[in-house]
Amino acid sequence: MTKNVLLTGGTGFIGKHLTDLLLHNGFSVSVLSRSTHTSNSPIDYYKWDLKHNYIDEQAILNADYIVHLAGEGIVEKRWTKRRKNVIVESRVKPIEMIHAVLEKNQKSLNAFVSASGVGIYGAITNHKICNESTHPANDFLGKTCQKWEGAADRISALGIRTVKIRTGIVFGKDEGFLKKMAPSFKSGFGTILGTGRQYLPWIHIDDLCQIYLKAIVSDELAGPYNACVTDTTTNSRFAKTLASIYGYRIWLPKVPSFVLRIVLGEMSKAVLKGRRASSEKIQRTGFEFQFTDLERALVNCIK
Ligand SMILES: NC(=O)c1ccc[n+]([C@@H]2O[C@H](COP(=O)([O-])OP(=O)(O)OC[C@H]3O[C@@H](n4cnc5c(N)ncnc54)[C@H](OP(=O)(O)O)[C@@H]3O)[C@@H](O)[C@H]2O)c1
Repeated sequence: MTKNVLLTGGTGFIGKHLTDLLLHNGFSVSVLSRSTHTSNSPIDYYKWDLKHNYIDEQAILNADYIVHLAGEGIVEKRWTKRRKNVIVESRVKPIEMIHAVLEKNQKSLNAFVSASGVGIYGAITNHKICNESTHPANDFLGKTCQKWEGAADRISALGIRTVKIRTGIVFGKDEGFLKKMAPSFKSGFGTILGTGRQYLPWIHIDDLCQIYLKAIVSDELAGPYNACVTDTTTNSRFAKTLASIYGYRIWLPKVPSFVLRIVLGEMSKAVLKGRRASSEKIQRTGFEFQFTDLERALVNCIK
């Protein structure tokens, strides 16, 4: 019988790509969304309203797997105290609501897969390569990811296999990080941010979706997995590569760190500091990345 995968945040960048891959692999797909959608596609839409504690329980009851992608954009707006609460709440509360429905109905799942971020290791620029055993950081993103993963662990405590995908910066065509960065580079105004030495752990959207698929179908996967290429891409290398794809060399001066600190506030740390993360654990499961070369990945997304 066809297995159903319920995606929270399935209307977003990763969710849309994952939906296509899941349908292609013979799953049926449902989406939990805050908006009403007319079902003129193979997708079933269910509604939830986190502010008013409303969830269409049928979405959970029909699901064999749940993939949790919902959450407010982390770098969309300045990190005020209020914004930080929204970022955390929009990731943790959905899991609590799902947990409550599962518990109340004594419903089990084949697996619960949650997004998380390599931000759990903190915004630090050193050469250390973080793996899944590295101690989480105490900064805002580190604490956010810990709360997010901590909520997912409560689903695991129900006896449900739970996988946490600690995602790097996702490259996709006209979406996510590249949607923000590419226009200035395309018009010849791309440049390096801060020192440019900060590491930038990245992954191509196709590889990320394959990791999610593997997390769904492979019973041996449980716990956290880094989802990014283990290479030495820094902001400077990224900027020079992107500029060269558009046919020029960076000519503008670097954007000084203090300017970014003034403009972005605390969020500037996410841009000015980097981290390296190892993909060894997911590769040990037999996973093979399709895109490990930065230039090839960028060309694939841009051209
Ligand atoms: N893209 C990346 O580079 C990247 C990197 C690391 C981690 N991640 C994580 O992966 C997950 C998916 O990323 P994405 O790039 O696909 O995000 P996205 O395009 O922003 O989509 C997220 C979805 O979450 C839902 N959402 C937004 N605000 C919400 C709120 N306040 N309450 C409940 N739902 C809300 C929205 O769906 P509805 O409007 O339909 O409700 C939205 O379509 C996120 O948790 C993100 O932090 C992404």
